[in-house]
Amino acid sequence: PVEKWCGDDRLYQWKGFWFRPQYLLGTRQVLDKFKPLPSDVILASFPKTGTTWLKSLLYSIINRSSGACLRSNHPHMLVPTLEVQLYGPQQQSFSNFASTSSSSRILATHLPHQILADAVRPADCRVVYVTRNPKDTLTSFWQFVLKSRSYEEPWPLEMAVEKFCNGVVPFGPYYDHVLGFWKESLERPEKVFFITYEELKDDTKTQVKRLAEFLGCPFNGDGEEEVLDEIVISCSFEKLSSHEVNKSSEHSPWMRLPMSSFFRKGEVGDHRNYLNNEMVERIDAITVEKFHESGLMYGVN
Ligand code: A3P
Repeated sequence: PVEKWCGDDRLYQWKGFWFRPQYLLGTRQVLDKFKPLPSDVILASFPKTGTTWLKSLLYSIINRSSGACLRSNHPHMLVPTLEVQLYGPQQQSFSNFASTSSSSRILATHLPHQILADAVRPADCRVVYVTRNPKDTLTSFWQFVLKSRSYEEPWPLEMAVEKFCNGVVPFGPYYDHVLGFWKESLERPEKVFFITYEELKDDTKTQVKRLAEFLGCPFNGDGEEEVLDEIVISCSFEKLSSHEVNKSSEHSPWMRLPMSSFFRKGEVGDHRNYLNNEMVERIDAITVEKFHESGLMYGVN
């Protein structure tokens, strides 16, 4: 049963998190039907924290891909999202997934740990969680909403800040989402890898190496160093956003959005170009209360 309906945002609250109606149906189906395999790799994230980047990286690390696939496929077509493409409203777009998947299936989700745990823990599969500082996440989300046709009225920034701070955004509250996976990564570090967008930007190569080790496929064979370098470049924002398939203004088969919506600036600190001091102070205060007081020293700078 749904706990609350926020009509203004067309969001349902369920188990403490907010969902667009079509993804709540997908979520229910995931919980009923999804049986993860121990060899699966699950990429979990809050929206706008680097999901598309991690989809490309995980796909490339596991398949040791040279980037040819990324030139002709949008990352969201290589790694499906459970509650959207596999069990959600766009199921058709991924009907051939089972036959095209490699030995390790890579599946993505925006579901919070608090909801996903019962499905995923028993399989003991690996989970990679990416997050991003709240101010950049909010900025990226607001810009994304401006491009999205799902919202009839464009949102003023003030409204986006209000909704983000109250947690009433799809898959929100952001803070509970991050804390759920962070705590799980402390309890089960061999199975849950917690990484931030900022760490990845700062030294992509080192982080990709760590990721590959976590996934059990380290880059230590002959010639693997070159493959690693190639992967870092082929998954970079500059490279990915230059491919025709990712520049396309055509709507994606999985969302009513142009394919290009997932590539905007790809920088750390872009919130400084949008948020005023009052907004920054408000978000920082919540970050201190939610993250720092839980021991996660992240998100203010
Ligand atoms: P910005 O809006 O700040 O540019 P998600 O994939 O979770 O929806 O997140 C989208 C954000 O990641 C966008 O941030 C997008 O530009 C950025 N992004 C996409 N691909 C990237 C890449 N290869 N490297 C760095 N950032 C990337």
